[in-house]
Amino acid sequence: MRYRNLIFILLTLTLFHCQGPGNNNYTENEDIARKVDSLLNLMTLEEKIGQMTQYSGTMAETGPSVGNADRVAEIESGRVGSMLNITGPDATRKAQELALRSRLKIPMLFGYDVIHGFRTIFPIPLGEAASFDLDAIESSARVAAVEASAAGVHWTFAPMVDIARDPRWGRIMEGAGEDPYYGAQVAGARVKGFQGDDLSDPATVIACAKHYVAYGAAESGKDYNTVDMSRMRLFNVYLPPFKAALNAHVRTFMNSFNDFDGVPATGNTYLIRNILKGRWDFNGFVVSDYNSVAEMVPHGFAADQKDAAKKAVIAGCDMEMVSGTYQLFLPELVRSGEINENLIDDAVRRILTVKYELGLFDDPFKYCNPAREKSVTLSQEHKEIAENVAKRSIVLLKNENKTLPLSKDTRTIAVIGPLADSQIDMNGEWFGRGRPEDVKTLLASLRERYADHVNILYARGCDVNSTDKSKFGIAMSIARQADVVIAAVGESWAMTGEAHSRSSLELPGVQLDLLKLLQSTGKPIVVTLMNGRPLSIRWVKDNVPAILECWFLGTAAGDAITDVLFGDYNPSGKLPVSFPYSVGQVPVFYNHRNTGRPVDPDVRWTSKYIDIPNDPLFPFGFGLSYTSFEYKNLQISAEKIKKSDSLNISMDVTNTGEVGGEEVVQLYIRDLVASITRPVLELKGFHKIRLEPGDTRNIKFTIHPRDLGFYNNNLEFLVEPGTFKVFVGSSSGDIRLQGQFDLQ
Ligand code: GLC
Repeated sequence: MRYRNLIFILLTLTLFHCQGPGNNNYTENEDIARKVDSLLNLMTLEEKIGQMTQYSGTMAETGPSVGNADRVAEIESGRVGSMLNITGPDATRKAQELALRSRLKIPMLFGYDVIHGFRTIFPIPLGEAASFDLDAIESSARVAAVEASAAGVHWTFAPMVDIARDPRWGRIMEGAGEDPYYGAQVAGARVKGFQGDDLSDPATVIACAKHYVAYGAAESGKDYNTVDMSRMRLFNVYLPPFKAALNAHVRTFMNSFNDFDGVPATGNTYLIRNILKGRWDFNGFVVSDYNSVAEMVPHGFAADQKDAAKKAVIAGCDMEMVSGTYQLFLPELVRSGEINENLIDDAVRRILTVKYELGLFDDPFKYCNPAREKSVTLSQEHKEIAENVAKRSIVLLKNENKTLPLSKDTRTIAVIGPLADSQIDMNGEWFGRGRPEDVKTLLASLRERYADHVNILYARGCDVNSTDKSKFGIAMSIARQADVVIAAVGESWAMTGEAHSRSSLELPGVQLDLLKLLQSTGKPIVVTLMNGRPLSIRWVKDNVPAILECWFLGTAAGDAITDVLFGDYNPSGKLPVSFPYSVGQVPVFYNHRNTGRPVDPDVRWTSKYIDIPNDPLFPFGFGLSYTSFEYKNLQISAEKIKKSDSLNISMDVTNTGEVGGEEVVQLYIRDLVASITRPVLELKGFHKIRLEPGDTRNIKFTIHPRDLGFYNNNLEFLVEPGTFKVFVGSSSGDIRLQGQFDLQ
């Protein structure tokens, strides 16, 4: 017996401390699994539960205060496996040193919300999604990972992959919009950007698919609100981006605050154990959202915090963010037999596995690198990448009388509006370690690049959200002197993001009054809209000749917008989300079902309003260009295909304008008859292409029968025979070519 123990201890020490050179000799699962099991066998129950416990530092406030007590003693005794909201090589080193004083010296994980950049800030994710450029989106996440990892961050709580069809919900700014197919593409690109190809590379961070699941369907657009939908809709609309993140090897999921089927996601065994860890065989770990374990008590699902801890662990929530109920109650729940220690061991294995994958046991301080932080943070290269992503995210919503691009001979420009020179607003919400002073605003960029030969006049005109019209006069006086007015209007950074839902989608404050006054001067107006959610800008669309959707574009906002205003970059963005005609339409989205009485404006007895149109103000996939594109010669490789076949679809796209530009060629299908009602349109592919004037390119798509499948109300994934329409176009509302085929 003694001999065997000696072998066991020697083996454990060898495995536990072998200096795998950057993990490249890991046979990933075997080596890591062995080390994890060896370590697990050495751990006390309290130490195991410590790994399942995460507390918040004080460098950011990302939720209600839950008493940021001093955690030093707990960390030193191995009772804290992770901290969030601690960043910087020095601060994370200090915290890690505390963890390494513990008996088993298990390093902590440092998590932080790196949502659209760490210090170099990129467009808000909804804006980035408008680029329809997966390489650009991946490059943004890559830069964020390089900067965050140099600042001691191991783990970003991103990508947020929640499908959102309700712009009242403030967190619509964090995701990729309304479409499951596109949301899945973006999810994969962002996970790849954050995690890279080798997690042991210190310039990578583990990603977190959040918020699992259906958080964006909160009733009435109120954050944290009840979510109720069919499981069929869950599988067909809200789960696909999470599945894509899992297929991209995302290492963590974060459960959402909402309930689903009446059960809070944090304690929802169906969502976590049945789907995520069961059907999908996810082998990473699930972290709760901020305090969401304890919040199962106000949900009315847990009787008290002990009950909440029990239900969360049983459901498969591996790590508890900040509420501390695991540390308080799991020891007695296990010792009393109410919780089987196997559940604890499974959670701890998952967490330790990720720590080994990062290489933290080899070098717990590998992310604490001041020299690397200094060399990569806000580098010129990163700022250039940010400007590229930003300009590609801008969407041209209207351009009457060729108002844009502005002539470089323009003599006088009046720049007016509360967002023309607001550095803080350009970073949007979830700005990480971004600093307002790093931002170049639109006014700053125009002055820097054109003041030597253009008279740039500026007036704020009004606030974003006040009733004060006292500065209208000054604005009007400079507008009258100008050849063109650029009106920078929209929302403030804090009007979207978490716990920032709005009941209205109108321009806040008196901005619309200001625009109407400016329009009365007769000067051409260009609206540069800066906002975190779709807005119902009806009057602007009807009365202003040129509109650019600029979102919150981050550090390089000013230069990106200036590039587009003067035609140095031909805008190429497309809307990833519908812009409602009014909040009364919400939820409004392109991939809706047809109903038995589809809208007919001339027939009363059809599905419509008596006071507004059914169509949104701007549809999903919409975006104009300074040039024009013609689509012709649609070729569909077969009229009929079997389930073992695939179908090739091609078309010619020509730049019929006078300047080079990019087009996002969109492929949609419609399943005409199925065992459940299907959407009138479903995006199944897109290509963003650049064409010079007169160029024609043959664009190809391939459809596999699986792409036509759907989950029915028994949650069976079906690929049914039938006739499918094919639509190709410049947006969901601008179909240029159509055809059809039969699946046998
Ligand atoms: C917040 C958010 C979540 C974030 C977490 C940590 O409440 O819901 O998205 O990652 O807490 O800051």
